[in-house]
Amino acid sequence: MSASTRYTCYTGFRLTHGDFVYLTFMRVLISERAIKKKVKQLAALLAREYKGTDCVFVGVLYGGFVFLADLVRELHRYDLHPAIDFVRLTSYQGTESTGTIRIYKDVELDLTAKRVLIVDDILDTGMTLKFLKEHLSQKGATDVKLCVLLDKKGRRKVDITPDYVGFEIGNYFVVGYGLDCDHRYRNLPYIAIYEG
Ligand code: IMP
Ligand code: MG
Repeated sequence: MSASTRYTCYTGFRLTHGDFVYLTFMRVLISERAIKKKVKQLAALLAREYKGTDCVFVGVLYGGFVFLADLVRELHRYDLHPAIDFVRLTSYQGTESTGTIRIYKDVELDLTAKRVLIVDDILDTGMTLKFLKEHLSQKGATDVKLCVLLDKKGRRKVDITPDYVGFEIGNYFVVGYGLDCDHRYRNLPYIAIYEG
């Protein structure tokens, strides 16, 4: 397999207006194998931190659902079974942040005296997760930590540091493994650079 085929993937047909049909190729930034390995490593770290505690993992919809699902299934190996809840916030439309964060769905579990871990796909400007961290901290949790698969450190606009990070990446718009562009490509098992 040549280097170019190894790092380029064919994701299928993309239909646009009219009768034009495009083939979509994307460059793979992080392979499925690398993600699997990283999820195992993160699960081991999280098991050490949360074993024996009353913890709630809060997935951020929709982007965080794949990462959270893989992470918690890995945690059964450590006999760690966190309670799981979800929030849904939004600040993005297409590939751009609108800057206004809204809560569509709040947590349903009582977080009083719980150790809370927010699990999301990516930390970009940081505005969404800073907002969420402050929001959840007001619900009586013992502590609220943050675990993200990807960190676009160079794009940060607010002061927030993740406690657990899978990969630091550059300023690309990426899709796959939960990340989308207009709700597509979340199902890719790898992270690819979306070139439009
Ligand atoms: P932030 O508030 O700018 O940090 O944005 C966080 C949210 O924006 C993430 O949870 C994603 O849903 C979305 N986002 C940021 N960068 C990307 C990207 O490269 N691809 C897809 N979604 C992204
Ligand atoms: Mg998100």
